[in-house]
Amino acid sequence: MPLMQWDESMSVHVDALDVQHQQLISLINEAYDALQRHDEHHMTTLISKMTDYAHMHFAVEENLLKKHGYQDLEGHRFQHSQFIQDVTNFRKSQFDRTNLSQIFVYLSRWLKAHILEEDRKYIPYMPQPKTESEIGDDDSE
Ligand SMILES: [Fe+2]
Repeated sequence: MPLMQWDESMSVHVDALDVQHQQLISLINEAYDALQRHDEHHMTTLISKMTDYAHMHFAVEENLLKKHGYQDLEGHRFQHSQFIQDVTNFRKSQFDRTNLSQIFVYLSRWLKAHILEEDRKYIPYMPQPKTESEIGDDDSE
């Protein structure tokens, strides 16, 4: 049973960002799974991969918000920096081995709440989603 799962209610109606959110969730799940299997080496590698991916994803998202004139870009940026800070603290805490699985629960809840409550606020600022019939025959962008 994965720690968290992406579902349609988390869609921000931008395919590229949905895919990145899914990838972040999958990396957190894989790292948590490694922890459950006591494979700390793999867990550390996955957390490092997840952190790099989060940096990339947040930059892509922030650039899009800027491009489309999102009103609370600074507030959103601050939230992203908090996540990075939390993950950094988490990576430090690996050394004293405190509540590792609780930290995973915290990170997964943070990410889900962020997508549902903060990311979804930018939907109206983004270009309109494509209709079913347009998907597959659009080669713009
Ligand atoms: Fe975000």
